Amino acid sequence: MSSNPSLPGDPLWYAIREQAAAEAEREAVLASYLHATILTHDSLESAIAYHLAGKLDGPTVKAMTLREVFDEAFAKDPEIGRAMRADLAAVRDRDPACGGALTPLLYFKGFHALASHRIAHWLWQEGRQFLALFFQSRMAQLFDVDIHPAARIGHGVFIDHGTGIVIGETSVVGNDVSMLQGVTLGGTGKEQGDRHPKIHDAVLIGAGAKVLGNVHVGHGAKIGAGSVVLMDVPPYCTAAGVPATLHGDCAEAAGFTMDHSLQPSLPFEGDAGVEEDT
Ligand SMILES: CC(C)(COP(=O)(O)OP(=O)(O)OC[C@H]1O[C@@H](n2cnc3c(N)ncnc32)[C@H](O)[C@@H]1OP(=O)(O)O)[C@@H](O)C(=O)NCCC(=O)NCCS
Repeated sequence: MSSNPSLPGDPLWYAIREQAAAEAEREAVLASYLHATILTHDSLESAIAYHLAGKLDGPTVKAMTLREVFDEAFAKDPEIGRAMRADLAAVRDRDPACGGALTPLLYFKGFHALASHRIAHWLWQEGRQFLALFFQSRMAQLFDVDIHPAARIGHGVFIDHGTGIVIGETSVVGNDVSMLQGVTLGGTGKEQGDRHPKIHDAVLIGAGAKVLGNVHVGHGAKIGAGSVVLMDVPPYCTAAGVPATLHGDCAEAAGFTMDHSLQPSLPFEGDAGVEEDT
């Protein structure tokens, strides 16, 4: 095991290592896996690069080469590592089925897809679009999550289950957003250019919801499972139904709390008072 001088300043990585060491002790079948994936690494970035490069490995580009791309992205843009820490903490804090940050790091494909997207987005911004699209293609095949590399996604985002998520090219997803399986952030098919949704901070989007067009979903809003949202949603409000209508006057930022309760129905009162783009 390598020494790790950064541990005191990186409590999340420290907790992940502690949990991995405890699990390796408890479950002999997983001991060598946990050592190779977590315990031999000297940083969270190194562990993620090793783990995800192994998952994205294929007949055309091998894990060793992909790991070098991860390492390069982490070295040149420290913000990626910060975003991934916030994403892991978000799953740990918001998913009642998750017993610590080690679990999403090793097992949750929502996190794997988002982490892969963060590398693809970095490549896209660096002008390496074709390699970015390779990452998108591999993660769509492996994790059933299809995020265009140009899509901008904030920190502390929780993609639960992952299966069937589609996020279009000009989408923007803010910080602390939670979304469940089957969510589409797509175009209506009637607009060109900037044609995808803008999801503001701390929004909760329920399973199977489709948010279509360049609409704004305001801070702390909730989108009901299975809804089709075609209009702006004001901050802290709930939109539900096909097509979605507004319900209630929400009080809390739902992305943080994962509160799925539907408020009593209120009439729609006009334009969404949404904030700046993220
Ligand atoms: C149906 C669609 C093509 C628009 O067709 P359109 O004939 O131009 O429809 P309009 O936008 O004028 O809306 C007409 C009515 O249908 C409703 N409507 C539109 N799309 C709807 C949908 N997907 N579900 C339910 N109702 C819908 C509108 O709310 C509107 O209702 P109203 O007359 O009561 O106000 C478009 O909204 C859509 O769903 N496109 C598919 C996009 C998609 O699959 N994107 C994913 C990309 S990854």
